[in-house]
Amino acid sequence: MKVIGINASPRKRANTQTLVEAILSGAEKNGAQTRLVNLREMEINGCLGCEGCKKHLGKCVQKDDLTPLLQDLTEYDAIILGTPVFWFHVSAQFKMLVDRLYCFMEHTDPKTGEPVMRFEFPAGKKFVLVISRGDNEPAEVLPQFYDHLNEWLNIIPLSLGAGSIEFLHQYGAEIDRKAAKNDTALIERAEALGGTL
Ligand SMILES: Cc1cc2nc3c(=O)[nH]c(=O)nc-3n(C[C@H](O)[C@H](O)[C@H](O)COP(=O)(O)O)c2cc1C
Repeated sequence: MKVIGINASPRKRANTQTLVEAILSGAEKNGAQTRLVNLREMEINGCLGCEGCKKHLGKCVQKDDLTPLLQDLTEYDAIILGTPVFWFHVSAQFKMLVDRLYCFMEHTDPKTGEPVMRFEFPAGKKFVLVISRGDNEPAEVLPQFYDHLNEWLNIIPLSLGAGSIEFLHQYGAEIDRKAAKNDTALIERAEALGGTL
């Protein structure tokens, strides 16, 4: 079992990273081979919208630090995607990654009108989405501001043919980067989740 955790928080060793690491740690205890990737340490570009990947399905035309990572992703059995909530949505780093995953989406061939199936990204992978937010429980703080985010996040693994999708939410971190580290129950939940991968 190979598990990769991708942390899209621009803050070093903060809440999102702590939770992604805790899930990886749980997976490791279960015998998995794990890898942590911090997007903040990488040179990554936003999608060019060139549609070049549709001519070479599964391959983005850009050459940056995401180029090898995108190919590597196809080899993992489980993928953990972690982001802080920024302005009721994801971090810029997370959005750049997700836009670049477009290269794995099926599309319609403009000449034949037939769907071209996504074949480069093997179906059935396990996905975990980790979300750290400053606000407290959504039930207390304008849930409608966050419903769209959960629905949108769910679409990412669904579009990649996920075998399973789990969510781990951290609420109420405020600006405390150690809030997750100090939340023993949350860390235990994260490790337990990793153990199920
Ligand atoms: C630019 C910015 C925008 C934010 N917007 C929100 C928000 O809309 N809702 C929220 O609950 N927290 C918001 N926060 C707080 C972060 O989600 C929170 O501090 C989170 O724990 C950060 O994750 P990290 O510790 O992994 O960096 C925002 C923080 C920043 C820096």
